[in-house]
Amino acid sequence: MIRRKLLGVFILSCALGLSAQEKKSFTIDISHPTGNISPNMWGVFFEDINLGADGGIYAELIKNRSFEFADPFMGWKKLGEKIGEGTFLVLNRKDKPNNPRFLRVNTSLSSEKVGLQNEGFRGMGIKQGLRYDFSVLYKQAVPGITLRLQLVDTLGSVIGESTIRPEKTGTDWQKQQISFRAAKTESKAKLVLWFEGKGTLDVDMISLFPEDTWKNRPGGLRKDMVQLLADMKPGFIRFPGGCIVEGRDLANRFQWKKTVGPIEDRKLIINRWNTEFKHRLTPDYYQSFGLGFFEYFQLAEDIGAEPLPILNCGMACQFNTAELVPIDELDEYVQDALDLIEFANGDTGTKWGKLRAEMGHPLPFNLKMLGVGNENWGPQYIERLEVFKKALNERYPNIKIVASSGTDPEGERFEFLNKELRRLKVDFIDEHYYRSPDWFLTHANRYDAYDRQGPKIFAGEYAAHTDRTAGTGNRNNWKAAIAEAAFLTGVERNADVVGMASYAPLFAHVDGWQWTPDLIWVDNLQAYGTPNYQVQKLYAINKGTHVISVRMDNVIPSGQDGLYASAVLDSKTNEAIIKVVNHNDYPINGSFNIQTKENLAKEVEHIVLTAGLAEENSIQHPNKVSPKIDKVTLKGKTIISDLSPYSFHIFKIKIK
Ligand code: AHR
Repeated sequence: MIRRKLLGVFILSCALGLSAQEKKSFTIDISHPTGNISPNMWGVFFEDINLGADGGIYAELIKNRSFEFADPFMGWKKLGEKIGEGTFLVLNRKDKPNNPRFLRVNTSLSSEKVGLQNEGFRGMGIKQGLRYDFSVLYKQAVPGITLRLQLVDTLGSVIGESTIRPEKTGTDWQKQQISFRAAKTESKAKLVLWFEGKGTLDVDMISLFPEDTWKNRPGGLRKDMVQLLADMKPGFIRFPGGCIVEGRDLANRFQWKKTVGPIEDRKLIINRWNTEFKHRLTPDYYQSFGLGFFEYFQLAEDIGAEPLPILNCGMACQFNTAELVPIDELDEYVQDALDLIEFANGDTGTKWGKLRAEMGHPLPFNLKMLGVGNENWGPQYIERLEVFKKALNERYPNIKIVASSGTDPEGERFEFLNKELRRLKVDFIDEHYYRSPDWFLTHANRYDAYDRQGPKIFAGEYAAHTDRTAGTGNRNNWKAAIAEAAFLTGVERNADVVGMASYAPLFAHVDGWQWTPDLIWVDNLQAYGTPNYQVQKLYAINKGTHVISVRMDNVIPSGQDGLYASAVLDSKTNEAIIKVVNHNDYPINGSFNIQTKENLAKEVEHIVLTAGLAEENSIQHPNKVSPKIDKVTLKGKTIISDLSPYSFHIFKIKIK
């Protein structure tokens, strides 16, 4: 009889769509912190990939402004019905080895009007009503030519216009600038320069910037992109990469000294991502270094992040040429590292400290750490690292050294490096993992058994790849982001050994990417954070100061029954913060028992991030997958809350 009744209840509840919800109970011990959390735990990894710098965060709108691309007219189109022979000449001078080319325009050689059109980086993002600042370097024997500037939309209609008449004469280069406002918003505008009047004019560094750069700095960075970084409150910024540090060959490695000082003297080179992927060739991808090392340090300071430069260790990318600098010729490379510390921290009486002051920052940038090599491996790397380490430790014993453990988080190469780097007692081991969502889900306990006495870990590049690594099918969807959220509970739990972590890469332009997935996507007018960005941000802005223990049925929740959790204390805000991931396709009824003698506020802030596994954000729907905030009420010292399928939750409990 009873059995029949129960069966009836079961059938009824199924018919009503109600099913018995699985319950799980967690215990959080807030009285016994298990480790400290570094204030710069969660950071960002910047590399000029996917039009991250030129065409991205560096707000210059003119592509190939100094005619230094391999094809000097790449990005430019000559305009005019009949362009006379010799009207446009590319001259190559000896006295400016870093910027040898300039353009000579002789309008007397053409009977009709002539001009140049610049296509920008996949067009130019122009905003109605905004001021645009045009500038040019010129020289001329006599005045004769007036430049008519026109911003045009995709139909060719003029949406902003001005003229500039170079007046000064002589053999020295002069700079002239003019500002004007745009009448219409257009994401793929172009700039046309008409050369009116008869005469000869030499031009170089033709430049157009929007007024609304970050902090309104002339020649500065895209405000919306920097804002997304600032919103994460990142603890550090790693720059300038990535493989770009190494270069395809040593000639094209990243050399910081060539990226500082006046921008017209910064030597442009090809971007290594220009030719890296046959399926994503980007022939117009170069590095102008308008975003150079001074600007990287300034950006770090602006967003409150510790600067973490990574330098070439005397090895070109081992996936490409794998060129090596002979050990006895490594001095120049080591000197670059020593000089960089002087540039960042030296007083203004030193050679490099003086340059920093001349560039506008007399106070030191307070550099505390430096990476030697990116994704380098093998005994050749260790040999070179030892030379760097000796020189750096001797001269700057307080600078922490970050060293590479190669391209993969396991395998022979990794094992070798991991052993050697521990022998060398480097300060941080830089681990990289581009792996499937499944790998992230099954490795949430990666750091639980790591050696607590040795070097700290820098999880320097990671991302869940839904397709194959470096393939074009990887998506920034919730499937990838929730796997990262689950894995990061393990990183947070082991914050005493993992000192820093950053997702990679950071930026991608929707019309100019080479690598996917990426944290933040942009077009010429807008930028949005992916679900992965939301996860990173939630960890970063809820990082706390001390790790505390969470147990589920007496075990560390690191994937059992699809559940993951970690917790921290924030001694500044007096909060306990619990993070939990339900990676099941059904809801879980969670109860979180807080073990403490302290009084707790009744009202608990509850942040939840959830979506369908295939869901993504986009330019059209930038906030589709974004956190929602509500409140739950404590029952005694227990939170009872439903954890919906595939969801990431944060509970913030005030300790009174
Ligand atoms: O983040 C993209 C690339 O992945 C980085 O340049 C490199 O370090 C890694 O292989």
